Amino acid sequence: MKKMGNHSSITKKLYLGLALMLTLSLTSYSQGATPAAPVAVAAPAATTATPAITQGGDPVKGKEIFNTNCAACHKLDAKATGPALRGVGSKHEKAWFYKWVHNSGDLIKSGDAAAVKLFADNNQIPMTPFPALSEADIDNVIAYASEPKPAAAAPVVGAKVPGTEAGSGGISNDVILGALSLVMAILIVMLVLVNNVLRKVAAANGINVAPKEPTIPIWKAFAKNQFLVLVSSIFLLLASAFFVYGYLMQIGVDQNYSPVQPIHYSHRIHAGSNGINCNYCHSAARVSKNAGIPSLNVCMNCHKNIAEVSDTTATSEYSKAFYDNEINKLYKAVGWDKVNQKYTGITQPVKWVRIHNLQSFVYFNHSQHVNVAGVACQTCHGPVQTYEVQKQFAPLTMSWCINCHRKTEVKMEGNDYYTKIHEQLSKKYGVDKLTAAQMGGLECGKCHY
Ligand code: HEC
Ligand code: HEC
Ligand code: HEC
Ligand code: HEC
Ligand code: HEC
Ligand code: HEC
Repeated sequence: MKKMGNHSSITKKLYLGLALMLTLSLTSYSQGATPAAPVAVAAPAATTATPAITQGGDPVKGKEIFNTNCAACHKLDAKATGPALRGVGSKHEKAWFYKWVHNSGDLIKSGDAAAVKLFADNNQIPMTPFPALSEADIDNVIAYASEPKPAAAAPVVGAKVPGTEAGSGGISNDVILGALSLVMAILIVMLVLVNNVLRKVAAANGINVAPKEPTIPIWKAFAKNQFLVLVSSIFLLLASAFFVYGYLMQIGVDQNYSPVQPIHYSHRIHAGSNGINCNYCHSAARVSKNAGIPSLNVCMNCHKNIAEVSDTTATSEYSKAFYDNEINKLYKAVGWDKVNQKYTGITQPVKWVRIHNLQSFVYFNHSQHVNVAGVACQTCHGPVQTYEVQKQFAPLTMSWCINCHRKTEVKMEGNDYYTKIHEQLSKKYGVDKLTAAQMGGLECGKCHY
């Protein structure tokens, strides 16, 4: 066969063109990226707080005293049990403050007009007397309360601000994708062109490009081979049986079920960040069959005073405004008027969506597992303290229960109830330790009514 001299030269040109294009597109990419490189925007200089009427007190010490003694009832910028204290320094005389904080009751009884009015305006809730605080301490607190309100916290570094992604972190993926598809399209066009050129060159040089030989279609070849057909049918049957079985076993198994609740209540924030013990809310788990969902009164033990979350609680997914609004839903449900700090009497029950739900023919008891067996909540419910939204961690199938009963040893030490039974059973099985299964944890009647 005659060698085609100019074949390789054409390919060379093609490669050259390709290389050129790639370099071009790469440089244009890098050029696009340079100006978009994150420009260090000078953070708005924290407004240098001019020390206000500090009355000679130390606001730093004052903050400490405030947080330990007064924060239970007072906030600086919002009403709590007591009035907001920001700027209170200019409302009264120094001597009045000393008397008020040392014992507000005495001051009210003495008929002081300002004190009597305050008491009446605040639903006659008495303020705790603080006779132990020195006058300097009180000066410090007033100094702290006189500081100007800090400007809205600067956005957390790295937190997403909607609408700013484009232009802040290099070229967006869409642009890169677009450029790549353009390159691909050009390549295809070029290939077609090259093919045409090659055919023309071949024709010009009098070379015959052999036409494709007609071959038997692959499916016909396949159909003729009976062994192959048999093997593949068996394979297909087995595979579908596998999937159908898998599908059937899924029915009624709601692992990872995670419904939207009427109030976005986050276990991550309560049980995680704030370390609230599970038993504080699910107190029934230790003593009864059901763990129970806490009544809203339990929530109000804390939320009378927690009307909003701190800035650091917000995540890129959920903003502070979102969380605060969820607390407002709680207030609406229990009928709490946060401005006047009292119950309105208008309530609407919160309908939590039940997540875990065993079949009615199964008997499961929490206290037996939590209290007697000493199994941690997390063994069955997963790392609840990290869940932003509660979900079903375990499959709750019969094999799940049984497998655990087979491998979990029963805690015998320090439990008189077991001493005798342990002696007998360990003799029977010839072992020192007993699993829940050996104790009868596999008997149908223990779990089925
Ligand atoms: C048990 C809740 C409680 C605690 C704790 C508490 N206060 Fe009060 N405070 C109140 C209430 C309620 C009022 C409104 C007057 C009233 O009803 O007695 C008030 C009123 C005041 C006022 C008058 C505000 C105004 O607008 O004139 C000042 C000042 C004050 N408190 C300072 C303090 C300081 C300082 C502390 C901490 C050392 C403190 N309070 C701790 C409940 C409390
Ligand atoms: C401050 C109260 C509180 C604390 C503390 C708390 N929970 Fe909850 N828990 C709730 C509320 C309210 C619900 C119902 C709303 C929901 O499902 O998110 C709930 C739901 C649940 C559910 C799902 C119930 C269902 O419907 O099947 C489980 C499981 C659970 N909690 C486990 C835990 C565990 C484990 C801990 C400790 C790590 C814990 N909880 C701590 C209040 C609390
Ligand atoms: C032991 C105190 C305590 C109890 C009880 C409690 N909370 Fe909270 N709650 C907090 C604290 C602390 C925060 C977070 C404050 C922060 O991060 O700044 C919070 C935040 C919240 C938030 C906003 C964040 C989120 O989870 O979405 C909601 C809503 C909320 N609580 C609802 C409830 C409900 C409903 C109950 C009752 C089932 C309840 N809380 C019981 C202390 C409590
Ligand atoms: C041995 C596994 C296991 C352990 C340990 C366990 N649970 Fe459960 N939990 C379950 C099962 C199973 C259900 C479903 C019960 C049903 O539907 O009757 C459930 C349901 C719940 C519910 C839904 C309401 C209810 O009472 O049915 C809550 C809330 C709950 N568990 C909290 C807890 C807490 C808190 C702990 C730790 C103190 C805990 N669980 C420990 C298996 C467990
Ligand atoms: C994490 C392991 C674990 C899982 C999961 C578990 N169990 Fe258990 N269970 C135990 C242990 C350990 C005991 C033994 C408690 C004891 O008596 O000391 C026990 C005891 C029992 C008993 C009492 C048995 C007897 O001999 O009296 C019943 C009933 C029971 N479990 C039902 C269930 C059911 C129903 C499920 C599934 C929904 C389940 N368990 C899931 C660990 C588990
Ligand atoms: C440790 C507890 C436990 C024991 C012991 C137990 N089961 Fe179950 N069984 C369950 C649970 C939990 C379910 C519910 C499974 C589900 O809903 O997927 C169940 C479901 C069933 C079902 C319904 C079919 C299904 O998969 O939903 C049958 C039938 C059954 N069990 C028979 C038995 C028999 C027979 C025995 C005695 C050899 C027995 N079980 C012992 C916990 C148990």
